[in-house]
Amino acid sequence: MPQITQEEDFPGGLKARTAERAVLDKTRYTNPTVREREWEKIWSRCWLFAGLVSDIPGAGDYFLYELGPESVVVLRDEDGNVGAFYNVCQHRGNRIFSGSPGWVKQVACPYHGWRYHLDGSLAEVPDADRFCPAITAQERSLKTVRVEVWAGLVWLNFDPGAEPLADYLGPIVSRLEPYRFENMLLAKHQTVALDANWKTVRDNFLEQYHVDFIHPQHAGFVDCCNSINTLWPMGHSATVVEGFVTNSRYRVPEEVPEPLRPFLESLGLDPAAFSGRVPEIRAAVQQRKREVGDLLGHDYSPLSDAQLSDVWQYDIFPNTFMTINPEELWIFGPRPHPTDHEKCFLDKFTLQIPAETGCDEAKGLSLHPALCVSRDAERPEHESFTRDDVLAGKHSLTITIDQDIEYLPDMQAGMRSRGFDRAVLNADEVRVQHFHDWVDAWCADD
Ligand code: FES
Ligand SMILES: [Fe+2]
Repeated sequence: MPQITQEEDFPGGLKARTAERAVLDKTRYTNPTVREREWEKIWSRCWLFAGLVSDIPGAGDYFLYELGPESVVVLRDEDGNVGAFYNVCQHRGNRIFSGSPGWVKQVACPYHGWRYHLDGSLAEVPDADRFCPAITAQERSLKTVRVEVWAGLVWLNFDPGAEPLADYLGPIVSRLEPYRFENMLLAKHQTVALDANWKTVRDNFLEQYHVDFIHPQHAGFVDCCNSINTLWPMGHSATVVEGFVTNSRYRVPEEVPEPLRPFLESLGLDPAAFSGRVPEIRAAVQQRKREVGDLLGHDYSPLSDAQLSDVWQYDIFPNTFMTINPEELWIFGPRPHPTDHEKCFLDKFTLQIPAETGCDEAKGLSLHPALCVSRDAERPEHESFTRDDVLAGKHSLTITIDQDIEYLPDMQAGMRSRGFDRAVLNADEVRVQHFHDWVDAWCADD
């Protein structure tokens, strides 16, 4: 069975498919003038995932979100409100905050000592009587950025007139709510610097055509050739692949494939018992997860059986994509480089259900073999590294993502060649096409 693609329009008549089909000319990845248009038309108008509300639990807690030429501080005030401000002093434009996440009692610019309240309003100007006319808080408070919190995730929008986040996300909100991301804990926070345009990264994660070739291990635990794709307006999309199965292109193995064994063992299932019964594993895991969840105190009831076993990926335009297992969530986002169109920074946030309800060492049970974060653990350090560090084995974003990262700069370099003009896509690369159709729709003249 080949991949299936379905379209879901938004209420109010907004269509998933745009009228035009984009031609994927290489210039969209390599031409620096594209960067400026994307900055004005996409990054300045779309909702952007910026970080976790769990990083700012108390008054004065903040984190920074750096995107292209901008730096934004997300800050909690004394009343518990989350605010977002351009990280720019309103005296002469100095960047105020550095280092993230952090805590401040009051916002203070290190250059000439202007101070702001935690809600961004101007508090104090040294030698205020030397300014003529007088400085007012109304005129010189920190400049705000739109901010919304949903499912424990902080979203920003540089456009003060942008629609609410829920309208932008449409049905994705109700689809994701059963996972209760807000109850998950940060297990890893990583950023890798890549010599690739941000869309080169997006393309890679929008298709599974490459999986058999650069991720051969996947044949032993997911069936990517039968994925189901959904296209939404705005440029959002999703794909789901069955998990705890083997690749339907190949003969079903007699024994349980190696990658599945730790998952079965952690649930207290004996891999040997599935000898000759590999196609039965998916249903057995769905049932067993509910039993072990009840035993450990983790509630799976909001999730369907398919959500217990399968891997769902949601792509939220322009740059957020989530790989979702019920016990572990990966949130990715390539952020454009401030000046170089052919570079970006790829963030990965790994969130997990708490170890307190996810595993029980005494019983030898775990809902997922990688669960490791307890509720009272320190926040993991933010790891920043390069592709070379990944290749040298100094850092890893998991085997699969490391394999992608190895190829991305080669894609970028190849597209720059005079020997290449434009990409050609097949039906299984439909989400790549959809993404670029919407890049063009957002970038079109108003
Ligand atoms: S630039 Fe911030 S106080 Fe002068
Ligand atoms: Fe990949």
